Amino acid sequence: MRRKVIAGNWKMNMLPNETLSFIEALAPHVKNSEVEVILCVPYTDLFYALLAAQETNIKIGAQNMHWEDSGAYTGEVSAKMLKSIGVEYVILGHSERRQYFAETDETVNKKVKKALEEGLKPIVCVGETLEQREAEKTDEVIGKQIEIGLGGLKETDFATLIIAYEPIWAIGTGKTATSEQANETIRAIRKKIVEMYGNEVASNVIIQYGGSVKSANAKELFTTSDIDGGLVGGASLKVEEFEKIINFS
Ligand code: 13P
Repeated sequence: MRRKVIAGNWKMNMLPNETLSFIEALAPHVKNSEVEVILCVPYTDLFYALLAAQETNIKIGAQNMHWEDSGAYTGEVSAKMLKSIGVEYVILGHSERRQYFAETDETVNKKVKKALEEGLKPIVCVGETLEQREAEKTDEVIGKQIEIGLGGLKETDFATLIIAYEPIWAIGTGKTATSEQANETIRAIRKKIVEMYGNEVASNVIIQYGGSVKSANAKELFTTSDIDGGLVGGASLKVEEFEKIINFS
């Protein structure tokens, strides 16, 4: 049985003092949750988030990293650096990084390998544009993202790695994929993983849905056959709303 994992992606939001009060307010509401709860926060909030999340069941992640350990890469942060302060998860290949910061499937692959090597758990994002969906290219586009982005890994890597299916047209638009659409695409992702790593890996890997998840649609999405929770943007910035999503059942 796969577990449910719900992660907040704060993107470029929240200051340290807001991080402290958010986690303090959220923790009691999720302490008995069977869902795994993760908050992926800006670099400047990581240390505060880790402090506030001590002795809670909230896990902390970053939103990006570089694939080198150190060196002349102004403005970058390495997996080793994240690991050294106790970060557990890292989002890789988010569509906003692909779109605005020239992230490619190849750089995603380097980052995934480095994260795993350092013991960080990657949340790897894939997803199609509206044009690609309308041209019925969704499976092909995502197939390529998976083939390259998740190429050359070990079967055991999939015990820690999470995939997030985030259709780009559903991110921040209020336009959610229907639970059927999301479930169907996630099944196609599992099929691709079967081809690459076999049945067992494919049926055990955690695959989340992301894109305008809110308390009003969480239950419908997360109770389908193949969706193992969500990667939540805007709705993870409000304690009350995020808590309802976590306690969807
Ligand atoms: P929204 O939930 O704001 O649509 O963002 C989704 C997302 O990009 C999470 O990574």
